[in-house]
Formats: sequence, C-alpha cells, structure tokens
Amino acid sequence: MRQEKINEMSMKLPSRSVNEGMARAAVAAFCSQLDPDASEVADIKCAVSEAVTNCIVHGYKNEIGIIYITVSLYADRTIKIEIRDRGRGIEDVKKAREPLYTTDAENERSGMGFTVMESFCDKVRVVSQCGKGTKVVLCKRLRKR
Ligand SMILES: Nc1ncnc2c1ncn2[C@@H]1O[C@H](COP(=O)(O)OP(=O)(O)O)[C@@H](O)[C@H]1O
Ligand SMILES: [Mg+2]
Repeated sequence: MRQEKINEMSMKLPSRSVNEGMARAAVAAFCSQLDPDASEVADIKCAVSEAVTNCIVHGYKNEIGIIYITVSLYADRTIKIEIRDRGRGIEDVKKAREPLYTTDAENERSGMGFTVMESFCDKVRVVSQCGKGTKVVLCKRLRKR
C-alpha cells in the first residue's frame, strides 16, 4: 500500500549559485516537522546541495534557468525530494552515476555528486532527456523517534 502523503511544498529558483544554500536550507526547514536527528538533517542538506549544484553547473551551464523543487512528506517518515531542471540533460545516465565520472574535470569537479546522493539517501532516481532536462528524485526514510 502506498503511504499517505501528509504534507508537500514546492519552490522554484533561478539557477544562480547563491540559491544553492537557499534551496538546501528551505528543504531542511520543511523536513524539520518530521523531527529528523542532526545526522539525518546533514544527509538531506548534502544530497540536496549536490543535486541543485548539478542543475546550476551542468544543466544550465552558461545560462540561467529555473530549478523546480518539490518535497513530499509521508506518514511512514519517508521524505521524497524532486529536483528538476529544463537544461541540457544527460546523455548516459548510467555512466553519469558512476563514481568519479565527470564531464567537467577542468573545473575540478570530483564526479562524486551522484555517489554522495546515493550514500545519504535510501533511493535515488534519475530521469533525463538530452536537450530537455533532468529530474532527480531523492527518497529518505527517517528513523523512528
Ligand atoms: N542536472 C544535470 N544536467 C546535466 N548533466 C548533469 C546533471 N547532473 C549531473 N550531470 C552529469 O553527470 C555527471 C556526474 O555528476 P556528479 O556525480 O554530480 O559529478 P560532478 O558534478 O562532479 O561532475 C556530471 O559531470 C554531468 O555530466
Ligand atoms: Mg555534481
């Protein structure tokens, strides 16, 4: 049975680097109603930061576009965070998700963004189409309190 959704919030932001911290803080603030512990908050912030940074530096490379974020909270303490851009898209998602893979080594990117998201969340889904954009869905189930 699908879990009951108890709350939801959406926001959209221009892909300016100053907005990365805003997105991270806003998502964490919204999730705080589920009373996550400090390490869970840190995990969520880190994963969101990686996904939003990717929209800014890869999806909307050399342009400013809109980043769409939706956060859903479920009764079983699952948090679902969707982060979407309408940017360049990813040619090969499987390859992009490999540790250390980056198309931007000249800017000293580590290629560890997706690996970080995977290690801090329970599930990471990536849907992307070249020229159309990318959607990353992060799911994390908080521990019982
Ligand atoms: N939103 C996105 N739009 C376009 N390409 C992306 C996006 N997110 C990730 N990518 C591609 O996936 C690669 C791997 O991403 P990531 O693991 O975060 O490493 P890094 O950002 O350090 O390159 C990026 O180098 C880029 O080619
Ligand atoms: Mg990255």
